[in-house]
Amino acid sequence: MKRSMLLIIFFLASINIVVAQDLETSNRLYQTCAGCHGANAEGNENLNAPALSIFSTWYLERQIRNFNQGLRENHPGGDLLYISDEDIHPLADYIAGKTAVSSQPSIEGNLDRGGFIFQHCISCHGEFGEGDEDVRTPRLSGQYDWYLLQELIKFKRGSRGDHPDDLYGAQMMEAAMMFDEDMLRDAVAYISSLEIKSDD
Ligand code: HEC
Ligand code: HEC
Repeated sequence: MKRSMLLIIFFLASINIVVAQDLETSNRLYQTCAGCHGANAEGNENLNAPALSIFSTWYLERQIRNFNQGLRENHPGGDLLYISDEDIHPLADYIAGKTAVSSQPSIEGNLDRGGFIFQHCISCHGEFGEGDEDVRTPRLSGQYDWYLLQELIKFKRGSRGDHPDDLYGAQMMEAAMMFDEDMLRDAVAYISSLEIKSDD
């Protein structure tokens, strides 16, 4: 009895040590990201860097791997390549734990038309753009509007989502192709007018 208690205590203590080590490594690794994505992962418009704080662990993991494996282009510098495979999950988890949001709208558009177009996004991204883990779509709410528009235009022009192994990107590319760039702008203006909600 005593022996099994001791074993349990030892087991729990060793889990604590692993968690503490992961946290320390993630904190250290995140310092290389903070210069662009901000100390609270709130992003930085001047550096074109999106907020990361709004995302869930699984989405961050997927995008870090997408950049690493060349499914997605244009991540500045080679920072992500230095992260070893086993550090990706704890780092993503660490970033997902941050809660900053960017709520200052900067893009103007026709909100009525934007609301109509957004009806085509809801089935995948949710009524408030909160994202949906079941269908693996990212949260849009709380992200900089200029970043949302920039990515939509990339999908529309085929510079994101066209890698044959990027199955999720392909879904989004197809959705973006349905609209012209002015319509996408209206949809983004509408998204940034919505109440900010998260999926977690
Ligand atoms: C030199 C600036 C810079 C540094 C350093 C940097 N990033 Fe980025 N990151 C960017 C920019 C700019 C983008 C937007 C890329 C694009 O246009 O698609 C981006 C995009 C991302 C995305 C995609 C977000 C989305 O909306 O899909 C993730 C995830 C990410 N970075 C993670 C990281 C992590 C983790 C680190 C640190 C290891 C890091 N970045 C370091 C500038 C940077
Ligand atoms: C069929 C499902 C589907 C529909 C419909 C859809 N999306 Fe997406 N969207 C996705 C998926 C999946 C991703 C993630 C792609 C990836 O992993 O790179 C995504 C990514 C995005 C991104 C990039 C987010 C980021 O941080 O990089 C934006 C912006 C976006 N969608 C906006 C929209 C808008 C606006 C609409 C409606 C006009 C829409 N989506 C309709 C599935 C969908």
